[in-house]
Amino acid sequence: MTKSILMQLSNGVITRDQTPLISQVNVSLEAGEISLLTGPNGAGKSTLLTALAGEKFLASGNLQFGGVNRDQISLKDLASKRSLMLQQDEAVDQLRAKDVLELADISPAVPAQTREFVSKIVDSALYGKTLGSLSVGQRTRVFLAATAIQNSGVMLLDEPTAGLDSEGISVLAEFLSRHSSAGHAVLIATHEDNLRTLASKEYVVTDGALSLKS
Ligand SMILES: Nc1ncnc2c1ncn2[C@@H]1O[C@H](COP(=O)(O)OP(=O)(O)OP(=O)(O)O)[C@@H](O)[C@H]1O
Ligand SMILES: [Mg+2]
Repeated sequence: MTKSILMQLSNGVITRDQTPLISQVNVSLEAGEISLLTGPNGAGKSTLLTALAGEKFLASGNLQFGGVNRDQISLKDLASKRSLMLQQDEAVDQLRAKDVLELADISPAVPAQTREFVSKIVDSALYGKTLGSLSVGQRTRVFLAATAIQNSGVMLLDEPTAGLDSEGISVLAEFLSRHSSAGHAVLIATHEDNLRTLASKEYVVTDGALSLKS
């Protein structure tokens, strides 16, 4: 049976401040698949995730979600196609954890196991606190919960275990495994090995090029 490709970038060139960072980018994320994105500091992993989200930094290339070109998809519909968790998002520092979760809760059909993950990963005692007042790990937990609750086809995660304690890592690993089995695709930029066993593919960025490690 052929797997369904939820997101594909062909011949992408990733650029930041007019400087080409990564060229010849070919990424294909299939339903049910977890992939890693690795490479040294500054190689461009976070920038690539943002480009794959269809927001910015893609100078050229063909980005598609479910076979439809990015330009044909409205911002509203894009939210159901992919969610992006970045490490730093100071724009939401003034928002309470509860607000961040409510803003992301846009899907009409969030699965019970995703709601269960949200309640496990974020202690409800944090709901009334602003993001700017949280610890690194607490903040990561809120971003993970918001990214999951969006219930999009593809999850793009930037260093999702940075700052997480061992309980958080195991709750996340269990969720990602069930989430991908339910037909979602996940791409994880990481320097750590703690989610490696879940992944079936690894993309590596080095010296301005992206390759698929087999
Ligand atoms: N806010 C920014 N403004 C301008 N240039 C930036 C900014 N953030 C990163 N860069 C540059 O873009 C390049 C790629 O950065 P990026 O954050 O994508 O790398 P990364 O692979 O995610 O690194 P890390 O492993 O440290 O997270 C770097 O050379 C960096 O100097
Ligand atoms: Mg990064």
